[in-house]
Amino acid sequence: MSKKPYYITTAIAYTSGKPHIGNTYEIVLADAIARFKRKEGYDVRFQTGTDEHGQKIELKAAEAGISPKEFVDNTAGEIKRIWDLMNTSYDKFIRTTDVDHEKQVQKIFKKLYDKGDIYKGHYEGMYCTPCESFFTESQLVDGKCPDCGRPCQPAKEEAYFFRLSNYGDKLLKLYEEHPEFIQPESRKNEMINFIKNGLDDLCVSRTSFSWGIPVDFDPKHVVYVWLDALTNYITAMGYDSDDDSDYQKYWPADVHFVGKEIVRFHTIIWPAMLMALNLPLPKQVYGHGWLLFGDGTKMSKSKGNVVDPVVLCDRYGVDAIRYFLLREIPFGADGTFTNEALINRINSDLANDLGNLLSRTTAMVGKYFGGALPAGCRTCAEPQPFDQELRTLAEGLRSVYEEDMETFAPHKALDEIFKVIQRANKYIDENAPWTLAKDMDANGARLATVMYNLLETLRICAVLLQPFMPDSMDKLFGQIGACECCRSWESAGVWGS
Ligand code: MSP
Repeated sequence: MSKKPYYITTAIAYTSGKPHIGNTYEIVLADAIARFKRKEGYDVRFQTGTDEHGQKIELKAAEAGISPKEFVDNTAGEIKRIWDLMNTSYDKFIRTTDVDHEKQVQKIFKKLYDKGDIYKGHYEGMYCTPCESFFTESQLVDGKCPDCGRPCQPAKEEAYFFRLSNYGDKLLKLYEEHPEFIQPESRKNEMINFIKNGLDDLCVSRTSFSWGIPVDFDPKHVVYVWLDALTNYITAMGYDSDDDSDYQKYWPADVHFVGKEIVRFHTIIWPAMLMALNLPLPKQVYGHGWLLFGDGTKMSKSKGNVVDPVVLCDRYGVDAIRYFLLREIPFGADGTFTNEALINRINSDLANDLGNLLSRTTAMVGKYFGGALPAGCRTCAEPQPFDQELRTLAEGLRSVYEEDMETFAPHKALDEIFKVIQRANKYIDENAPWTLAKDMDANGARLATVMYNLLETLRICAVLLQPFMPDSMDKLFGQIGACECCRSWESAGVWGS
């Protein structure tokens, strides 16, 4: 039977600078879900990439004395290197400067123009250059940009517009018919209010700078960023190209993972564009929270309060950082980065709970049984109530974990796993193997069963931890001597594999 396709994406990152640890949250989150879905047997397509056009890039490149293309080649390379460092298993890394993407965007623009969904007009407003955004006077805060707090300049230019205002009712109907479309639920109300306040048409071209995809039938215009950026989700799959087999297979996307500040673009503008193109809509948009800096502000390149993922991974290891990101930021909410929080997580969860369980168990199996348990040890002693309790927890873990992962709550899934790990540590103390070992003739069989139960619990937890800490779990499997079939997803639901 052919596998069911599952298409998962992250937002494409701006190439304005080097990614910080907050940027890596999204790709690591999506990676854990993608790995989980592959384990469940889906044919996963996991896409990420870079958003490379716009005035800000043009200015930054000029400051650096290089061409915009050289500038984005450097930063896109840096972003990809960090995504690789974080061991993320993406299948496609799209760059909006890819020739195929540029060609498809031009075709999409023309198609929408021919249909009347794009028209030519004038844009007037207050413009913030670093944020590449126009604002109305009323949106400014103390006359300054509401996002970055820097001064805005009045600006007017000829521009093409997308008739977003035509789509308000259709979008409201979409949310009503598909209540699962916007996740978490709380973000949906924000979008409904936004639409009910009236949608303006969206500016989709610029003439004031040139670093963008030219509108081919009116080349003094370049396509303005959001039309260029959002369409990456279909252009990278070969939509409307000579080979659209990936598009046919994977579109519509199962989930777009995006930060909460760009949920609006993904749940209003993007579905409206797709409706205008008569294309199927993504099934779900998940707006995650932010990684905040210790002082409660959003970590961001433009604020400069960033923490370098390379330094953290060098110091603590990639899997520890992946674990921290996914454990510390709860479902849809914000999480705070502090060195103390990171070190606490590493010490308490990874070293004390998991690390201790592993090292105590393997050391005792080594010491009391020369590294290999006797055959039949699983049932060679009368089961005790503690055994059953541990077994029930471990055996039931996969199904509670799966429920959490299906609802994109990896922090809850991790919480469940660590409850079992803590229970297993307690089981060691309850059974006091060191006391049993004093009389191997009388207690050897019981001791073997206790060790077996611990190894089996470790094995099940490790299978389920694979999407989070893939390399460390491979090592752990080696340490407990788990064969290939004992590492499989199916085996995590079965005690006694
Ligand atoms: N280029 C646009 C997205 C276009 S998608 C068609 C963009 N780029 S970004 O580089 O600013 O952000 C990329 C993703 O990283 C966004 O989803 C954003 O929310 C996320 N994050 C950026 N800073 C973040 C934190 N401090 N914490 C968590 N995620 C953050 O927006």
